[in-house]
Amino acid sequence: MKDELLKLKKQFIEEIVSVRNLEELTLIKSKYLGKKSRISEIMSSMKKLPIEEKREVGALCNKLKNEITQKVKEKNEELISKSTFDFDLTMPINKNRGSLSPITIVGKEVCDVLQKLGFTIVSGPEIEDEYHNFDALNIPSTHPARDMQDTYWTNSGKLLRTHTSPCQVRAMEKYGAPLRIAAPGRCFRNEDIDACHENTFFQLEGMVIDKNVSISNLLYVMKGILSEIFGKVVEVRLRPGYFPFVEPGFELDVKCLICNGKGCPTCKDSGWLELCPCGMVHPKVLKMSNIDPNIYSGFAFGIGLTRLAMMKYHINDIRILNSCDLEELSQFDIM
Ligand code: PHE
Repeated sequence: MKDELLKLKKQFIEEIVSVRNLEELTLIKSKYLGKKSRISEIMSSMKKLPIEEKREVGALCNKLKNEITQKVKEKNEELISKSTFDFDLTMPINKNRGSLSPITIVGKEVCDVLQKLGFTIVSGPEIEDEYHNFDALNIPSTHPARDMQDTYWTNSGKLLRTHTSPCQVRAMEKYGAPLRIAAPGRCFRNEDIDACHENTFFQLEGMVIDKNVSISNLLYVMKGILSEIFGKVVEVRLRPGYFPFVEPGFELDVKCLICNGKGCPTCKDSGWLELCPCGMVHPKVLKMSNIDPNIYSGFAFGIGLTRLAMMKYHINDIRILNSCDLEELSQFDIM
């Protein structure tokens, strides 16, 4: 028995040296100190030994147990002290890792394309003031266009921004002209929720101001972005659209990506999908942010990122996107 105890001690010392984490330490602890350990077995079989030997083996067992307990304690402290740096790169990948939302993915794709075209990515507050969300965009309080955007007001007279267009104003104030910015972000409108409407949705605002900027520049940029996002050359068309901060204003449509313009339920048989309101920046808007409309002109657009994600991933119910249903959402993650 004495020999066996010496062997156990040698074996334990060899094993504890190679322990790399707390799970392995727990296993070793129960192997050597647990109820079913060899040391416990030896201790319970000691009863049969003659009294002299019993005393000797008992003392050895206790000594060994104390030594093991002490070593386990030291190893535990050592592992905890370096635990934040203890990555095991050989561990298998956890299949339940988090994933990016489809909106985050398309938002990043659009920003990547715009950055290549020299746009700077900016952001603005979600709780906005009336001036930046409305007045500076040529929407005074008497303007009927305010009713188009059912607004959530805060008790202190601020509001949840109803679009990303206030980011245009903040960028003009901060950087002046010339300017090339994009601002992705969350917007809020007091809408009844159904498969096509949400009270919380994402847009991406784009603005270019320079000398001699024209509608063909707007079309070139829009076609470039959409072709990159959808991975093929897309056809676009402009229809007149009304927004007080652009003149002329347009609705930009893309040829239906599902039926290629032939007509299908997604495009309601029209062959076109409405995707992005846009237009040439209204001279009054430039002037209000101290940019001279006699020298500079510009265009602006507001891509519906929520809508774009739905189109790209064929999501037919907008509510899925804010649902926190991880099973639904993680299937779009391609990272
Ligand atoms: N901000 C507008 C909206 O949400 C969209 C828009 C942006 C229109 C830029 C024209 C230019 O309704």
